[in-house]
Order: sequence, then C-alpha cells, then structure tokens
Amino acid sequence: MSQTLIAGNWKMHKNQSEAKHFMEEFLSLTAGQQWHDREVLLCVPFTDLGVLQMIAPRHHIHIGAQNLHWAEVGPYTGEISALMLVELGIKYVIVGHSERRQFFGETDETVNKRLLTAQKYGLTPILCVGENKEQRLAGETETVIFNQLDRGLAGVDQQQHLVIAYEPIWAIGTGQTCKPEEANRVISLIRNHLQNHNITILYGGSVRPNNIDEIMAQPEINGVLVGGASLDPTSFARIVNFN
Ligand code: PGA
Repeated sequence: MSQTLIAGNWKMHKNQSEAKHFMEEFLSLTAGQQWHDREVLLCVPFTDLGVLQMIAPRHHIHIGAQNLHWAEVGPYTGEISALMLVELGIKYVIVGHSERRQFFGETDETVNKRLLTAQKYGLTPILCVGENKEQRLAGETETVIFNQLDRGLAGVDQQQHLVIAYEPIWAIGTGQTCKPEEANRVISLIRNHLQNHNITILYGGSVRPNNIDEIMAQPEINGVLVGGASLDPTSFARIVNFN
C-alpha cells in the first residue's frame, strides 16, 4: 500500500529564526492533531535542519533535506553528504528537483548517483520528474518522464525506501496547476512504468489550500510536494488537513 505523504519544499526560504517561528505557528494551528493516515514532511534549507529536528519529530512532523551528494566525505565544496543528514536523524531528501536540473546542471546521471547513495544510507529519496511546457505541447510528456525514470532509477531497488514526485515544470510556482485529472493520468502512467506499483507518488506544482482537496481525491495521487504554499503556516496547515 502506498503511504500518504504531504511534503513542503521551502527551497531557499527561511533562516533559523523564521523557521522556528513557522513551527510555533504551525503547531498552534494543528495542536492535538495526530495524522495517523498521513505523513507530514518539511524539506528545508540545510541551515534549518538542526534546529527543526529538535522540535518537529516529537510532533510527528518529519524534517527533510533538499539535496545530498553521493560521496561520504571529500573535497566537494558546497555539498552535503548522506552521513551528515543521517547524523541529524533526517529521513527524507529531495533528489533531482527541476530547479536543480535547470539552474545547477543536475543530470539524470547525477540524480541517479544521489538516489543510490540516499538509499544506501537508509534515507528515503523523493525523485522529482516532470516535463516543461515545450515538451508538453510537443506531445513528449510521457517520453520525457519515462526517460527521467529509467535513467534516474538505474540500479535503484524499488522495494527500498523511494518516493516519486510528478512535478510538471510549467506548473511550478506559476499558479497554473495541472488539472487534477491530468495529474492523475500521468501519475498512473508513472506507476505502471515502475516495477513496484505501490511506490508513493506525489503531485507537485502550484498546490494551494483551494485545490488540495480536489488533488487528493484522485485515486492515483498519494500526496503532494508543496513549494510556495508551504511557507505560510496557515496554508500548510490547511493542506495537511485535506479532506
Ligand atoms: P510550487 O512549487 O508549489 O511553489 O509550485 C512546487 C515545487 O517546486 O516543489
């Protein structure tokens, strides 16, 4: 059975004091809630991991990272290793977000190495895949995504911890959500393409309080990866408590 996962991606937002402030507000808005049927996760900047790990887990909120390097240790200025995340008790890490691919030269090959390393150290990687507008208009959505999956998942054990996020690039940060039925259709194609059909598959791209219920009502969608709307405690609390 696929797990339900509601994940925030703060990207490069919030310093430590802003992160703590968010957590206080979010906890007061969700006081006493248990979330037996869903996992709640916030993927935050590296500098916020330590402080949030001291608060969030006792409230059943997971804290995750947004990237990791494939080496254990070494001369890789600016990178963070799996071991550094594991030491903090981190369980989830985003891999291959389209912004990493677009702005930082991430390729399917480096994504694959990061995925393999995350699993090796017991982390759950969230592999992001998705087409851009030109690819969608050219009818290439399926080919693009299957290529990203095949290359990104080469040698990856699909029975181990693994989450996939379908994030159409044209829907990220644009307010142009992919229609829930269309997201459901693509996610169903992704599921059928995988060896393990029970992998948790998320939708991401302009998820907001006003569309979360419709998105989560789709049978193939196991959760969401939320950027902008996860920065505000009230919005994220509403999203976490989808009906
Ligand atoms: P968005 O970002 O919700 O702001 O569109 C989603 C993402 O990039 O994961």
